[in-house]
This record gives sequence, structure tokens and C-alpha cells, in this order.
Amino acid sequence: MNDKEIKKGIIYVGANDAERRIFDELIELPDGTTYNSYLVSGSEKTALIDSVDPSKKDILLSNLKAAGIKSIDYVVSQHGEQDHSGSIPDVLAAYPMAKVVTNSKCRGELADLLMIKEDKFITIEDGGEISLGDKTLKFFFTPWAHWPETFVTYIPEDRMLFTCDFLGSHYATENLYAQSNDEILIPAKRYYAEIMSPFRSMIRKNLEKIKVLDVDIVAPSHGPLHKGMDFITGYYSQWASDDVKNEVTIAYISMHGSTGKITRYFIESLEKKGMKVHAFNLADADIGDIAMALLDSATAIIGSPMVLAGPHPKAIFIAYLLKALRPKTRFLSVIGSYGWGGKLVEQLAEMLGSLGAEIIEPVLVKGYPKEADFKMLDELAEKIRAKHQELGLS
Ligand SMILES: Cc1cc2nc3c(=O)[nH]c(=O)nc-3n(C[C@H](O)[C@H](O)[C@H](O)COP(=O)(O)O)c2cc1C
Ligand SMILES: [Fe+2]
Ligand SMILES: [Fe+2]
Repeated sequence: MNDKEIKKGIIYVGANDAERRIFDELIELPDGTTYNSYLVSGSEKTALIDSVDPSKKDILLSNLKAAGIKSIDYVVSQHGEQDHSGSIPDVLAAYPMAKVVTNSKCRGELADLLMIKEDKFITIEDGGEISLGDKTLKFFFTPWAHWPETFVTYIPEDRMLFTCDFLGSHYATENLYAQSNDEILIPAKRYYAEIMSPFRSMIRKNLEKIKVLDVDIVAPSHGPLHKGMDFITGYYSQWASDDVKNEVTIAYISMHGSTGKITRYFIESLEKKGMKVHAFNLADADIGDIAMALLDSATAIIGSPMVLAGPHPKAIFIAYLLKALRPKTRFLSVIGSYGWGGKLVEQLAEMLGSLGAEIIEPVLVKGYPKEADFKMLDELAEKIRAKHQELGLS
């Protein structure tokens, strides 16, 4: 048996990128990643599901060669982003008879991004299917997981669901499966937080759509496969719900230590009042860690000094990230230090307005914090505690 055989006639032909440390030039990859590609051989036709990042195209092609694949009929492209579609032109060059099976949105993207020619496509509809003989590919559109075109592929005969980015994780391993659920939980959560969390309501709809399928194995296009669907969809349901916890995420930056002192005092005050605090110094924070903390925190706080009449640029960055990730945060506030004046709070409040969270009166301190300032920070912590209590959190 081929050690990358998942089910009879279905093999893994993807690539491991354990050394990669940054994705989209934005998110850290503490565990590297994989680009999963699957070859499905039916009694009559053969399909490749997703390709790999172009940097790993040689591995995909050599895996196909090693598996003795002489012809490919269909290349199913579930997502236009290049980490999955980028090697499709190379697959088409090596297997000229192959057609690209995708939906009309992805077809447009592949034409724009990879210049794949019109006559190469077979366009599928939501709920459509293609027969490989004794195996059927059934397609279900799962828009905004995480681009508009994303869809999943189900093989009923094998009870396998291919989900591309949806339900995946950036986690490089040579094993097809994680050794335990614990091993994959944090990478999957990080992945959800960074990639999926802006689309919570769509994720919920997509979960409903796939939950009715009888699934034995979930095969995402990053990270290990899942045995059964309940573990990963259970967590996704929780993350995508409106539920928040009695937790506060604080992201702060300090040039000369005043905002640092304010933040340390404030963390202690919140903790004394029973709240769990996730604090991140923006000088060296990992975006994924912040995104994960934000998933369930009822409150988010930005700590910033005044710089050139506004927030520190790193505080602007985090406010922008918050706006983009759209966490379920119910309350927001700002703490910080200033020298003479400016519009730190106004600028952050304007950026964060679209989140729909309640902004609790910020505490800005002139210079280094003193006794009266600590009292105001205690009062802010108390207001947050009371707000959380109103939500029934403890
Ligand atoms: C580059 C720079 C620009 C600053 N611009 C402003 C400003 O426009 N308005 C203001 O009130 N304070 C300004 N300050 C003063 C700081 O806000 C003040 O020193 C504050 O206490 C610094 O907090 P920190 O120790 O947390 O960095 C500036 C300081 C620096 C270093
Ligand atoms: Fe993607
Ligand atoms: Fe991806």
C-alpha cells in the first residue's frame, strides 16, 4: 500500500513546506504549512483535487510521476488563491488532456491570475456532480471560506469531503493525520482566527450545508486530514457562534514605558476582578496569537501613546486588524499616555466604529501614571466587569 493512500484509489500528492515562516507576507507560520493535493482514480476517470503553491510544483509533479499517473482527466480547483491553484498551469502542461473543473467565479479568477485559457474549463454548479466511474465528485459551494468562489468536493462512495482552506490548518507534518486532536486544535484555531473569522455568518451557513453529509474523512488543503467531521466542525461552530467569554484582549505598545506601566497595572486590576486577560506587546506580537485571543474575548483594549497627534502606527495597525477580523468583541476601550495633546482616541474610535461594539470611556494619562490615574484604571476595569456581568459572564 502506498503510505499516502487515504482510501482505495485516493492518494495524497501534495507538498510539505515546513520551513515557511510567513504566509501572504502577513501571518506568521510557527508550524510551517502543507499544500495538500489529492489524486482520485475512479474506474473510468482520474481527478486531481487542488494543486500546490507554485514554489512546490516540482514535488507535486514528481509525486504524480511516482504514482505512475499517465493521464489526468480533471483538475478540480476549489479556490483561486495561488497556494492551491498556482501549479495548475504546470499540471496542464504535463497532462495536456486535463480540464479544469471549477465554478464560474473561480474560473474568472484562474483566467485573471494564471491566464488559463477559456477552452480548458468545465464549469460546475452548486450541487453538481461529475462521475469518475465508480466514484462521484459532488460539489457544494461554500462562499467566503474565505474567498467568494470557494467550494468543497464530496465523494459519497468513500465518504470523503475535500474542503480546501475551510477546516484546514497551517501545520506541517509528514503524517496524513494528526496524532491526536490536541495536536491540531491550536493550529486549526489559529487558522480559523486568521483566515475565517471575518466571515462568521457565512461560515455558519457553510457548516450547516456540509453537516448533513455522511463524512468519514475530511481532507483540507492545508494541514492534516481529520477522521470524522465532528471534532473540527464542533469547534468551528463554537468559534463562529456569537458566544463570548469573560476575557479581555489587550494589545499595546509603549515607546518609553508609560503606556507599558499603565497596561501592566490595568491587567492586574482586571485579573483581580476575575477576568482572564490576554496581553500582547505590539513590538513583537504574533498576529495569529492576537487573532486567537480575540475570538472569544468579550472586550478588546488598545494601549497606545500619542504619537504625532494620533495613535502609535502599531496601534493603528492593530485597530485595522480588529476592523478586518471582525471579532465578536462586545466592548472596546483605549488606554494610553500623551504629552500635550492630539486625537488618539478619536482616530481609534473612528476606525473601530464599524465593529458595532460599545466603546467604554478610555483612560488617557498625561505622562507616567500616578495615583489618580491608577484609580481611573481601576474604575475602567470595574465598568468592564459590570458589562461582562450584564452579559451573564463570570
Ligand atoms: C515621536 C514622538 C511623537 C510624539 N507626539 C506626540 C503628540 O503628537 N501629542 C502628544 O500629546 N504627545 C506626543 N508625544 C509624547 C508621548 O505621547 C508621551 O511622551 C507619552 O508619555 C509616551 O508614552 P510611552 O512612554 O508609553 O511611549 C510624542 C512622543 C514621541 C516619542
Ligand atoms: Fe486561501
Ligand atoms: Fe490556502
